[in-house]
Amino acid sequence: MGKIKNICCIGAGYVGGPTMAVIAAKCPDIKVTIVDLNAARIAAWNDENLENLPVYEPGLDKIVAEARGRNLFFSTEVDKAIDEAEMIFISVNTPTKTYGLGKGKAADLKFIELCARQIAAVSKTDKIVVEKSTLPVRTAEAIRDILDNTGNGVNYQILSNPEFLAEGTAIEDLLAPDRVLIGGETKEGGKEAMEALVEVYANWIPRERILTTNVWSSELSKLTANAFLAQRVSSINAISELCEKTEANVSEVARAIGMDSRIGSKFLKASVGFGGSCFQKDILNLVYIAKTYGLNEVADYWEQVIIMNDHQKRRFASNIIKTLYNTVSGKKIAFLGWAFKKDTNDTRESAAIYVADDLLFEQANIAVFDPKVEEKQMHYDVNYLNTRDKEENKKGITVFADPYEACKDAHAIAILTEWDEFKEYDWQRIYDNMKKPAFVFDGRNLLDGEKLTSIGFVFQAIGR
Ligand code: UDX
Ligand code: ADP
Repeated sequence: MGKIKNICCIGAGYVGGPTMAVIAAKCPDIKVTIVDLNAARIAAWNDENLENLPVYEPGLDKIVAEARGRNLFFSTEVDKAIDEAEMIFISVNTPTKTYGLGKGKAADLKFIELCARQIAAVSKTDKIVVEKSTLPVRTAEAIRDILDNTGNGVNYQILSNPEFLAEGTAIEDLLAPDRVLIGGETKEGGKEAMEALVEVYANWIPRERILTTNVWSSELSKLTANAFLAQRVSSINAISELCEKTEANVSEVARAIGMDSRIGSKFLKASVGFGGSCFQKDILNLVYIAKTYGLNEVADYWEQVIIMNDHQKRRFASNIIKTLYNTVSGKKIAFLGWAFKKDTNDTRESAAIYVADDLLFEQANIAVFDPKVEEKQMHYDVNYLNTRDKEENKKGITVFADPYEACKDAHAIAILTEWDEFKEYDWQRIYDNMKKPAFVFDGRNLLDGEKLTSIGFVFQAIGR
């Protein structure tokens, strides 16, 4: 396998889109084609107006503008792209199963399996297949099984190349990653396949940051990294509840422990709970795998990270209800933020969805403003929980394009996402237009509590 000239990526989502755009920008000699079955998504990636790209990420528009049409292409012609490429990335989604065996825990690999079958059906030349999606350990084995049993004589190498980009900082993370991890097989040609991918990344990443391991280590490292990160958030969130009962302030505690270089200062922000497409799914996967091997203590240990996170979201909602005199029925509660973190339009597993659901059970009228999330996405998210009638959900949630309108006449404001712009709002104006007492529940410890209190707000944050 010589130098890679053609790359195909199946799946034009939050992972495939930014990752391939950066590869294309950094490797002008490689033609990168991103394919997706979703024609509307591909059309949006091809939109002249870069504001319409389907993924919002700071800096992504510039990278796409640089490479699109030169060596970066978005297309729905999956077979053609597979046929042309020497290297195929699989970046399709792997949601948690919502049915059958492993429901609520195991990853649903049907999209991966479909990709493997399609690659097997189309390929006429040798291919390197790279798993990019977050996949449970031993998925490569399943892909290999499918590819090997099609009998068209093509030689496949399977690599695991987990993504570590965090949404909102994806472009920075891709341009200057802490490390790139490539897992390969020991069978003949495995080393060469790994080297081919190392070569691609080495176009802009120092070689000492590109690690190679066996496939299983690579797959498990991804799950472990996310489990450790999520565990930090659940750990500080657990302490936040204790802080609220005592005189301690969680931000001070986080600062104090974070200065211990063994602990480190990152990922210690107490919040309304972590969200995103990876943390919960990856931990559930880890739990499922551990249980499969009969490792019940290991499974229970990691499951607790999720239990703590669910508790954190729920107690945020119940605190709103309790503070508003035990009823939010018919009250307007304004949500600032719906995305699972700032600088992304992704809402998967966002805490806002669960807090909204709890408040809807209490018959609240929720008014939402988010600078990047579309209205239909918010309705979709709440309906996806399947907890009540769609019509009722629709009645309970109103989406505003203007934050001041969202907050007007509200009994309370809840900060669900840490968008920077919320800090700059005219809080006096917001206060003047709210019902009194005017409550602010800051689920991100974002706002200046002292300032808000001096305006007249009743202000509550996490862990203080
Ligand atoms: C994560 C991993 O960081 C990334 O390496 C992996 O590839 C994909 O999963 P992502 O989910 O995009 O990335 O965002 P991340 O920054 O990890 O945040 C996850 C959630 O944790 C967000 O809801 C965020 O608000 C929350 N969080 C994070 C906290 O509540 N407190 C913190 O201190 C850090
Ligand atoms: P991620 O965050 O992992 O990137 P997304 O849901 O944003 O997840 O993106 C995954 C993309 O993969 C979706 O746009 C979906 O349409 C696409 N996809 C899923 N299965 C296939 C398939 N068999 N062929 C092509 N595209 C697919």
